[in-house]
Amino acid sequence: MSRLCVVGTGHVGLVYGVAFALAGHSVVGVDVNATAIRTLQKGKPTFFEPGLEAALKRALKSKKVTFSEDIRAGARDAAVVFLCVGTPSRPDGSINTSYLKDAAATVGEGMRAASRYQVIAVKSTVIPGTTEGVVRPALEKASGKAAGQHFGLCVNPEFLREGSALEDATKPDRIVIGALDSRSARALRAVYRGQRSPRLATDLRTSEMIKYATNAFLATKVSFANELANLCDAFGGINVDAVVEGMGLDPRINPRFLKAGLGFGGSCFPKDVRALAAAGRARGYESRLLRSVLELNDRQPLRAIELAEQAVGSLAGKRVAILGLSFKGGSDDVRESRAIPLAKALLERGATVVGHDPEANGAFRTEVPAVETAPDVKSALARADVCIVHNDWPQWRALKAADFSGMNRKVVVDGRRILNRSAMKGVTLFVLGG
Ligand code: UDX
Repeated sequence: MSRLCVVGTGHVGLVYGVAFALAGHSVVGVDVNATAIRTLQKGKPTFFEPGLEAALKRALKSKKVTFSEDIRAGARDAAVVFLCVGTPSRPDGSINTSYLKDAAATVGEGMRAASRYQVIAVKSTVIPGTTEGVVRPALEKASGKAAGQHFGLCVNPEFLREGSALEDATKPDRIVIGALDSRSARALRAVYRGQRSPRLATDLRTSEMIKYATNAFLATKVSFANELANLCDAFGGINVDAVVEGMGLDPRINPRFLKAGLGFGGSCFPKDVRALAAAGRARGYESRLLRSVLELNDRQPLRAIELAEQAVGSLAGKRVAILGLSFKGGSDDVRESRAIPLAKALLERGATVVGHDPEANGAFRTEVPAVETAPDVKSALARADVCIVHNDWPQWRALKAADFSGMNRKVVVDGRRILNRSAMKGVTLFVLGG
């Protein structure tokens, strides 16, 4: 079992830190955010993720995981250091690698005092060439050591989905290890010794690209499904789920990740597709496909408004309820949630907007303060002229016509194709994608 240091205790770092600890490694999670560290030391995750709090408490109790602000000491004592800091978007879509560079420099300072060979693995999502061009020089400069000689370097992308992140970390569908050399790869393989998942060994840049290619392809699948839903609506009388079922029987296609809706959100897809497109552009290649995927995603929330206007005409002065504010059901995360542009577009049209989400009301109000939030479905729907279902919390499936009885006009737009149609008698229901 190895001694590991995880730098950055956000979604990726914390989940991996806990997962590695429960697999038997000794892990220190480090972060510049002192408040987050204190919260984690008390066994409280800093975000909502099913099963994580219990897992964190177990890991703390076993003393296999600790948390500290001392990044240098954490890096000094570890055999493998995972860089899990954020790479946020810049206004032009490209990624800001300054946190990563700073983290690498601090880790490098810690490595100065280490006498043994160490491996630094980049888990942050970075454009091909970043590990060699940004991380490596920062580590070498700060440590006074040479990559490939005194320390190893790897790219080890994560594929965690919010809502099932712990399982994705402990039973991944693949482990991708991009390495500077075979010695680095060997050290990282040892960390995953207990896992049976298929492995792929590549160089650094290929692994960096695999992460982007994966998210860009999945986002393309979602935009394709949304395009198909819009086409089904244009034809009329065609149910997009039945079409996807028929397509999905072709093993070259498969039906997963083709669920139509109001667009993809979250911390990864929009940011990663924009970053890949921007990086291509910076190198003289304009990706028409990625541009279309993004354009479609920007337009898709407006489809709900078009459907609502078909029913009630102008939305000015109307009260519109949005059910589901987080980017997907099961999450409290509103980052890039399509409910944000949806609410803003409704407000621009002069509607009064009230939203409800089981977990994301507070976060959403911070994003769009002009939206009222309601503590439950009943109060969200009271006196509303239109209800738009935006995300896929499982509880929406159980809604019945009676739940909409407090509405002024019972017009419901199901933007997620989640409502039980047979339970909607007396409701004017518009389902995106037929
Ligand atoms: C995603 C990737 O799945 C994960 O591998 C990566 O590491 C991070 O990004 P996550 O952001 O948690 O994970 O969400 P995911 O479940 O993939 O959904 C992304 C968005 O696409 C959501 O807004 C979701 O509602 C939407 N989506 C997904 C669809 O609209 N239809 C689908 O069929 C699938």
